[in-house]
Formats: sequence, structure tokens, C-alpha cells
Amino acid sequence: MNILLIGSGGREHALAWKIKQSPLCSSLFVAPGNAGTAKIATNIDLDWSNHLAVIAFCDKAEITMVVVGPETPLVAGLVDALDQAGIMAFGPSRAAAQVEGSKAFTKELCDQAGIPTAAYRKFQDVDGAKAYARSLGKCVVKADGLMAGKGVFVVQTPEAAEAAIDGLVPFDCIIIEELLEGPEVSFFALADGTTVIPFGTACDYKRAYDGNLGPNTGGMGAFSPSGITPDLSVRILLEIIYPTISALRSRGITYKGILYAGIMLTNRGPKLIEYNCRFGDPECQVLMPRLESDLLETMVLTVNGLLEDATVVWGDQHAVTIVMASQGYPGAPQTGSILPETDQADLVFHAGTKLDGHRVRAIGGRVLCPTAKGADLEEARQNAYIVASKINWPEGFYRKDIAQESR
Ligand code: AMP
Ligand code: GLY
Repeated sequence: MNILLIGSGGREHALAWKIKQSPLCSSLFVAPGNAGTAKIATNIDLDWSNHLAVIAFCDKAEITMVVVGPETPLVAGLVDALDQAGIMAFGPSRAAAQVEGSKAFTKELCDQAGIPTAAYRKFQDVDGAKAYARSLGKCVVKADGLMAGKGVFVVQTPEAAEAAIDGLVPFDCIIIEELLEGPEVSFFALADGTTVIPFGTACDYKRAYDGNLGPNTGGMGAFSPSGITPDLSVRILLEIIYPTISALRSRGITYKGILYAGIMLTNRGPKLIEYNCRFGDPECQVLMPRLESDLLETMVLTVNGLLEDATVVWGDQHAVTIVMASQGYPGAPQTGSILPETDQADLVFHAGTKLDGHRVRAIGGRVLCPTAKGADLEEARQNAYIVASKINWPEGFYRKDIAQESR
């Protein structure tokens, strides 16, 4: 099979690395890819927002299946366009991708299906939003729509809430919600329209700096598995995932692809923080090394509605990834620096990198993800930090406390 993978982040390098290992994969193209995917696949300069151009490329390169990594093309309906053109595509339709594309849509879905989530209200006016935030004290201020993890402000005082609201003006709609407290886990499920199966767990570090300080980012490191008990996993499936898929179905929406639930383990049980319609980044970088079975085969079965026939096997080992970011991330990352060569024996997923002749340049906020496994979390953590410590990149920074207790 010839595969086209859409995206350019660390998640896509991890997916490419895993797909490439499948005996079903003949050729792998990545659009646009990064310097890491260039080493294992063919990067294609393709504008994914131009659906006709993607379809034309698929025809020319005899692509059997397109795997869509990031949320933006999913929310924009790339899978629908490919479907209509008769090309298999892994990922939810535009309607299903609303679970991530619109926080207001998901909140209404939760209300309808009785899914445990933070109490909330949505506002179109600044004064109403501020008044509700004042009434809550501690709260979370969220912009509606896709914000790459950066449109969310967890605030402890009414003054901070007001500043966050002012910072989002002008807006069409913002959401103010109750602050949930507890450890957070990323819970993944695969759905094919009929069957839904759990597909791994991870914990992600959202804040930019050690000790969970600094602004929210797309994620600065992760470990897998998350350590939640099998009982809790079943509760999340029964109370959150299955009712969501059913509620979507009752609206005429079939969810196919990966569903990523951000869950807060509160002392009143698991509560949904948000849905994403794709793999997490950097969670994917710790899931893929632990997946022993064939990802590509599972994706094909998912697209064809045959997930119940899939064999999914996870290894016993733990995995840790550390995100090395350009100085200034997430605000104004200073890009353009040349990255050192990494040891061939090490697993280093690339994110915002680009080949420039024979050199590799940092072109984004999150740049490299040194990743390692170990018999337990501590061993995986130590191994990942050994890989990171070999990468001498003064223009970058990374957290030193990924996979430590401080979470
Ligand atoms: P979101 O984009 O909705 O996932 O929010 C990004 C991050 O903000 C989440 O992963 C949480 O760490 C935090 N967050 C969002 N909503 C809440 C909430 N209601 N209570 C506590 N933390 C939250
Ligand atoms: N790591 C968080 C996300 O992928 O949204």
C-alpha cells in the first residue's frame, strides 16, 4: 500500500516511524513532513487545505490510504473530500471533528448525554463573562475554536480571569468553566462506526517550565502508560467515551478514527476536560514505541468498519518523551538555529525541523522529542534524559522534571 500522511509535527514523525514498520506499507509520503520524516519517507510539498490538490496527488502516487495527523485538516473536512473521491482516509469527518473544533459543541453534547464535565457557561459579551468568572472565583477561561492548546487560561482569581477575558477580545464566543482539580490523563480510543476500543493512555505536561510553571503549551513531554487502574479505564469508557459516540450517532454523526479524551481524575470521579479528534502530541511519541502490533493494519480495519477484527498488542515497557523547544516558546519562539546531529541509535522524533541542504534547521516552537523506553517509568525517564543530554542545542530548552513526581 502507498500511504500519504498529513502533518509535520512530532506526532507525525512518530506515526510515520510506526507505519513504516508495517509489512503492508510499500511507499510512505508525508505532506509536508519535517527533517525527521525526510529520513524515513518522502516529504511532499502539498497544501493540505487544497483538497483537490491532495486528491490529485493521491491519484498520481496511487495512494491507498491517507492518514490525517493534525486537527486543522480534519476540522476543515479533508476526510470528507477524500471519501467523496473514493480514497480511504483515516480520521473523523468534519462533522465528527467538531468534538475538537468547537468547545461549545462538545459541552452541549456532554449536557445531552450526561457526560461528567466541568460546569460552564458560554458568553458572547465581555461583561457577562466577567460577572460569571467573578462568581466562580477560580475558573478556566477558554476561547472557542482551534487554538493549539494556547487559548486556555487557568486562573485563580477574578482579576486574572478579567485579564484573560480582556486578552481574548474580540471574540465570537468564550467559555468560562469550573476549575477541575486532580491528576490529568490523556485517554485514547479507536472507533470505526460500530466498535470502540481503548487505544492507550498517557500523561502530558502542558506548562512550559519545571514545576508546572509558566504558560500552557501544546505539551512539553509525556509518559505512557498513565498508570490509571483497569477499573478507572472501564469507568472512563462507560461514563465518557461510549456515551459520546452514541450521542454523536443520535445526531447522525459517525465517529471514525482516534478519539482523544483529556480527563481530570477528580475526587468526584473522572471528568472530561476536552476532546481532540486526533492523536496527542507529544502523547503519540510515547504510544507508538509501546505499540507492538501493526498500526497500519489497525488503521485500515478502522476505516473499513472492521475494528473488531484488529489485534492490538501493547508492550509492557514504559515510554517517556521530552520536548525540546526553541527559546521563547510558546510566545515568540526564536527559530532558524542549526540543530546538532543526533545519535543514530537514539529515538529522537522531530517536530518543527526542516532540512536545509545537509543541515537541519529549527523552524518551529517544539523542535525535537528525545524518547526512550524502560522496564518502569523511572528507567524510561532516565533513558530519555540520557538521550536529551546528548543533544547540544543552546538555542533550545526543555523541562527537567518530565515523568517525575512533581506532576
Ligand atoms: P483544553 O484545550 O480544553 O484541553 O485545555 C488545556 C489544558 O488546560 C487542559 O489540558 C488542562 O490542563 C487545563 N484545563 C482546561 N480546562 C480545565 C478545567 N475545567 N479545570 C482545570 N484545568 C483545565
Ligand atoms: N498534548 C496535547 C495535545 O495534543 O492536544
